Amino acid sequence: MNRKIKKIINKKNKSKIVCLTAYSKNISLILDKFCDLILVGDSLGSVIYDYKSTKEVSLQTMINHSKSVRHGVKKALMVVDMPYNTYRNPAEALKNAKLVLKKTNCDAVKLEGGKKIIPVVKNLVRHKIPVMGHLGILPQTEKKFTYKGKKISERNKIFKDAKLLEKSGIFSIVLECVETKLSEKITKSLNIPTIGIGSSAKCDGQVLVIDDLLGLGSTKLKFVKKYLNLNKIIEKAVKEYKFEVLKKKFPKAKHSF
Ligand code: KIV
Repeated sequence: MNRKIKKIINKKNKSKIVCLTAYSKNISLILDKFCDLILVGDSLGSVIYDYKSTKEVSLQTMINHSKSVRHGVKKALMVVDMPYNTYRNPAEALKNAKLVLKKTNCDAVKLEGGKKIIPVVKNLVRHKIPVMGHLGILPQTEKKFTYKGKKISERNKIFKDAKLLEKSGIFSIVLECVETKLSEKITKSLNIPTIGIGSSAKCDGQVLVIDDLLGLGSTKLKFVKKYLNLNKIIEKAVKEYKFEVLKKKFPKAKHSF
C-alpha cells in the first residue's frame, strides 16, 4: 500500500485529517504545507467554470487541473475526482482511472456512490488503484441538495453503503452533508477514516472547497466557514492598480527596462 495512504489511515482515532480542494499549482503549493490530503474535486465545474452541475466536467478537464496541482504537491496525498459518466462499469472505470493516474501522477481517485458502484470499486482495488468513496450528497447525480439522514430508510442505506464500500477496499470516505449522529455512527463503525463536509466534527477529518474558505466567490452554504474575504482583498488591490495606471504612478522606472 502507498506510504501516504497508510499514513492517512493511521491517523484514525489519533489525529484529525486536514483536507482541502485545489485546482491549480499556486494554491496547492501553499496547501501542501498544511494539508494531509489535497483533492482535485470536480467542484471545479461550479467554482471555476460556472457550470450548473458537475455532470458537465470532463475527464480531460480533471486531468489538466490535476497536472497543475501536482506541481505544488510534494507531501500531501493527492486525490482526483473521477467525473460523471467516467465510471459507469468496471472496464470503463479502470481505463479512465489508469489514464488519470498516468497523466497526473496522483495517488488515488474518488468516486461518488454506494452499492451501485461496488463492482467498479472492487475492480479498481483489484488493479491496485487506491479509491476514496463519497456518500451523502452526491453532486454528480443529486436531485435534492438537502442534508442526508432525515429518514430512517435513508440513514440505513447510507450506513450500509459505507460498510459495503469499506469491504470493497476503499481507504477513506467523504461524507457530504450527512446528519451528525449518522456521521458519528459511520465513523465509529468503520476502520477507515471518514472525511466530513457539512457532516459535523464527528468525522475523522474535514474537507472544504478552497475558494469557499478564502471567501472567493459568493457561497452562502451553512457548512462553510470563510476564513478570509479574498473578494474584498482582490478588489482593493485591483482598484489601487487601476488608480495607479490611470495616474501614471505605475509602472515606475524600476519596473521598466
Ligand atoms: O468535488 C469536490 O470538491 C468534492 C468535495 C466537496 C468533497 O467532492
